[in-house]
Amino acid sequence: MRKQNKKILYAVSGGVAAYKAPDILHGWIKQGCEIETVLTKAAEAFVSPLPLSALSKKRVWREADFLSAEYGWQIPHISLAEWADVIVVAPCTANVLQSAASGSADTLLGAILLACRKPVVLFPAMNSNMLEHPATQENIEACRKYGYTVVEPDAGILACGAEGKGRLPSAETIYENVWKALCPKKDLSGKKVLVTAGPTHEYIDPVRYLSNPSSGKMGYALAKAAWYRGAEVTLVTGPCNIETISQIERISVTTAEEMYNVCTGRQKEADIIIKAAAVGDFRAAESSAEKIKRGGKEEFSVSFVQNKDIAAELGRNKPAGQLLIGFAAETNDLLANAEKKLLSKNLDLIVVNDVLQEGAGFGCDTNSVTIISAGGDKIEVSGTKEEVADAILDAAVKKQA
Ligand code: PMT
Repeated sequence: MRKQNKKILYAVSGGVAAYKAPDILHGWIKQGCEIETVLTKAAEAFVSPLPLSALSKKRVWREADFLSAEYGWQIPHISLAEWADVIVVAPCTANVLQSAASGSADTLLGAILLACRKPVVLFPAMNSNMLEHPATQENIEACRKYGYTVVEPDAGILACGAEGKGRLPSAETIYENVWKALCPKKDLSGKKVLVTAGPTHEYIDPVRYLSNPSSGKMGYALAKAAWYRGAEVTLVTGPCNIETISQIERISVTTAEEMYNVCTGRQKEADIIIKAAAVGDFRAAESSAEKIKRGGKEEFSVSFVQNKDIAAELGRNKPAGQLLIGFAAETNDLLANAEKKLLSKNLDLIVVNDVLQEGAGFGCDTNSVTIISAGGDKIEVSGTKEEVADAILDAAVKKQA
């Protein structure tokens, strides 16, 4: 899904977290989005319109503009609702939740929400007692019933000094939930998808390991794309420097053996398993408990033994209806080698990438792959790892239909 040029109507309501609004807005601008901003009357007590208009390069719509002599003729609540691809309220106060739940049109934001036929994403943020009050919870339920996405707040220290649930989630969580709301495909709703990503580290001693250059980008892109499309996602990841949001379950492992244990333990729950991790094929026969010293040695040899093949084990125990997708990182005879792996590991699809090709494979933001189906179909895809992830999921959905 292309994120550039998305039209986001960003409404800020009057909670302390409103002070974060210029930063959140700036993040969208840097991603190439176009923003119209609405400030509720209460929000103006927490954030000035000036940084929002300076960053968005547009006027900020204020309560005073609603039904005003100067701007009322533009009917801002209708024109803004029609202009936007998505409406986001962050932070969303108890008052705005109540107004949205009751379909009240007596404020600019209330009228926009009522007039809107696009996705709406609300980020409630308030004191925990206010959040947990049955009135607020009923309003949240009502908003969900209307099809709005209401994202659970984070827990932590709140502005009032209390500790509990009610914090505005990170900007990254806000962006990801908005991309999810904008994703037109929801064909993985109700499905559980398990993705593996990144390298494994096979330790020789406490400070040295055998590994590979996998950054995790391909696997993380798959996890995110599956979540955008409605799946419940578990990401089993080797050591990587990529953040994930809490709505994607992340299980961190270091070695191939740990990844094997998690994957085989979770296999039965999954509808789709995608093995994008670059699993170490070998580990040291014996790993030293202490750092191995140079100690005047001119040469030093380590004996390696094979790790278990996780994909092959999953292929042997594949329950009916489960889709198992592997990757093949190849340097020569790409298709022949990949087809052998497809058969020997009992995979349904294999994604082959030439890891020697520039702009493909390890570390980069793009990939160039052939997706081979057990039935023989082949599709070639090149693009960002997000685009390639989406094409792999298209092939998975088609195969499982
Ligand atoms: O992480 P990035 O920097 O984005 O790079 C992406 C990638 C190049 C790592 C990814 O696109 C990729 O090709 N992943 C698979 C790498 C790999 O281990 O390929 P393989 O041909 O050695 O293994 C074939 C399949 O068996 C893979 O699905 C692999 O996860 C699986 N396998 C391999 C060994 C093992 N012991 N257990 C396994 O499950």
